[in-house]
Amino acid sequence: MTSAATLESDSPAATQTLGERLGRLLEAGDVVALLGDLGAGKTAFVQGVARGLDVTSARVASPTFTIVNEHPGRVPLYHIDLYRLVHADELFELGFQEYLGGDGVAVVEWFDRFPDEQPAERLEIRIEITGEQSRRLRATAHGARAAARLERWIG
Ligand SMILES: Nc1ncnc2c1ncn2[C@@H]1O[C@H](COP(=O)(O)OP(=O)(O)OP(=O)(O)O)[C@@H](O)[C@H]1O
Ligand SMILES: [Mg+2]
Repeated sequence: MTSAATLESDSPAATQTLGERLGRLLEAGDVVALLGDLGAGKTAFVQGVARGLDVTSARVASPTFTIVNEHPGRVPLYHIDLYRLVHADELFELGFQEYLGGDGVAVVEWFDRFPDEQPAERLEIRIEITGEQSRRLRATAHGARAAARLERWIG
């Protein structure tokens, strides 16, 4: 089973296309953690995932004041951004755990801010800025389910 892979992107559109290809493979209960600096391209990637999940609702943007944006699609997309969250307690108020491993796909930006809350089973994608328009995506599968998704995604 593949547990790690490195992918290159040379434009925002290319990052979205990578996200879209993954989105087509995702199923209810999947969790994707997106890591990387401000402006790395995490939200750009989620926009692609949304397309792959046939999300037709409003634009997928970085949630500014909300932590979770729900988008109906082939299965629901829960786009979560933990950047502005200060205390882990707030996660409980959000009902955060119910978004993970539930009836939809959870894509979580800045999951590394709350490492203890990360489920054992998840596909982690770290986006590195390698140039003005270039990005390196390092994907690591945690668990067999994530490994299966990764294998199909890059295969
Ligand atoms: N290859 C690329 N892939 C993705 N984004 C790119 C790429 N090249 C340039 N960019 C630019 O980088 C920015 C990425 O912004 P985006 O909001 O997706 O980042 P983010 O990781 O979600 O940041 P934040 O942590 O603030 O939420 C956009 O302005 C985009 O145009
Ligand atoms: Mg973002």
